[in-house]
Amino acid sequence: MTEVKFSKGLEGVPATETVLSYINGKEGKLYYLGIPIEEWAEHSTYEEVAFALLKRKLPTKDELEIFDAALKNSREIPDDVIDFIYDTYDISPDAHPMSVLRSTVSLLESYDDDAKKDDLQAKFRISIRLISRFPTIVAYIDRARKGLDPIPPDHSLGHAANFLYMLTGKRPSDYEARVMDVALILHADHGMNASTFTSLVIASTLSDMYSAIVGGIGALKGPLHGGANERVLRMLEEIGSEGNVESYIDNALSQKKKIFGFGHRVYKAYDPRARILKSIAEELSKNSKYYNIAVKVEDYMMKKLSHKGIFPNVDFYSGMVYNALGISTDLFTPIFAIGRVAGWCAHILEYLEDNRIFRPKSIYKGELDKPYVPIEQRK
Ligand code: ACO
Repeated sequence: MTEVKFSKGLEGVPATETVLSYINGKEGKLYYLGIPIEEWAEHSTYEEVAFALLKRKLPTKDELEIFDAALKNSREIPDDVIDFIYDTYDISPDAHPMSVLRSTVSLLESYDDDAKKDDLQAKFRISIRLISRFPTIVAYIDRARKGLDPIPPDHSLGHAANFLYMLTGKRPSDYEARVMDVALILHADHGMNASTFTSLVIASTLSDMYSAIVGGIGALKGPLHGGANERVLRMLEEIGSEGNVESYIDNALSQKKKIFGFGHRVYKAYDPRARILKSIAEELSKNSKYYNIAVKVEDYMMKKLSHKGIFPNVDFYSGMVYNALGISTDLFTPIFAIGRVAGWCAHILEYLEDNRIFRPKSIYKGELDKPYVPIEQRK
C-alpha cells in the first residue's frame, strides 16, 4: 500500500467533490455554483442563495416563491422549545447563545417526524425547517436572556428583515434589512471549512440531519473558526484607541498570539467577503471609534504580515456591521450560523447522494508489544 503524506490539520487534503462553492485562495475569489460572490451580494437574496445551494441551480420565479413560502411557514418553533430556551436562561443567565442554539437544535429533532426518515426528500424538508428556524431560535435566545417576551415571526417580512424584527419588535429599514441579507449571503457557504466538514463526517455515518447540524454549530463556535467575529470586537474594545494599535499588535505577535479576524487556511489574499463587509461597515460606521481602530489594525497588520499571506478574513468586519445594527457581540457567531446552516445542509444533501463514511487514519507514534503491568506494580 502506498504511504500517503501526512498533512497536519488535513491542510490541502481534498475531502470530497462538490459543485457548491469554490475558493481561489491565491486571488481572493469565492464562487457559489460558479457565480462570483460579488454577484450574489449585489443581486440576490439569502432565500435565493439557500435554494440555489440546496438544489444546486438558480430557482425560477415560481420555484423561489414556493421556497420562500415554505421558509416563512416553518419559522415557528414548538412552545415547549421556547420554554426550554427561557428555562435555560433562568438556570444559567450567562449561557453563550451558541451553546443554547446547539442544545435547542438538538431538542427540535424530537418534534420532527422526518428526523427518523433516511430519504433525501425528508432531509431536504428538514433543511428548510432548520434554515427557517435558526433566526427564530437566535432571536428568542436574545430576548430570553434580556428578560423580554418572545416576538413571533412576521410573515410579511423576508428572512433577514424578520430576524431583525424578532430581535427588537421594530421593523428594520429597507437598508438595515438589506445589510443583514448581504451578511447572510456572504456566510452561506465556504467549501470544506471546519464546521461543514464536521457536519459531513457525522452525516456520512448515516446519522440524522439534526446531529450533523449540531456538530456544525459546535465546530463553528470555536475562536479559530466562526467564534473569531466575536473576539474581533472584544479585541477592538481592548485596544481602546487608535494610538494603542501598534503596541497592542506588536505585543500580541511577540507572544505568538493570533490577531482575530486575520489569516485563513485557504485565502492567501484578501478575503472577498471581508472586502464587501468592510465597505458596508464603512457606510454604517465611518468615523466611529471601532471602525477607525479596525482600519488602523488592518493597515498595521498588512505592513507586518501581508508578506506571509495574512489578510483580513470574513470575521474582521462582520462584527462591526452587526455592532452598527445594534446587535449584541455574543450574537455575532450565531448570526454566522444563521447564514452557514444553508451550506451545511446543502453539502450534506450533496454528499449523501454518493455517500462514503469518512474514516481517515492516524499515524501511530507509540511503542508496540509492551507488557501489561498489573496495577499493584505500577509506580
Ligand atoms: N495573527 C497572527 N499571525 C497569524 C495569524 C493571525 N491571525 N494567522 C496566521 N498567522 C501566522 C501563524 O502564526 C503562522 O506563522 P509562522 O509560519 O511564523 O509560524 C502562519 O501565519 C501560518 O498560520 P497557521 O496558524 O499555521 O495557519 P492555519 O492555516 O493553520 O490557520 C487560521 C488559519 C486558524 C484561520 C489562523 O489564521 C488564525 O488562527 N486566525 C485567527 C482566528 C480567525 O480569525 N479565525 C477565523 C478564520 S475565517 C473562518 O473560519 C470563518
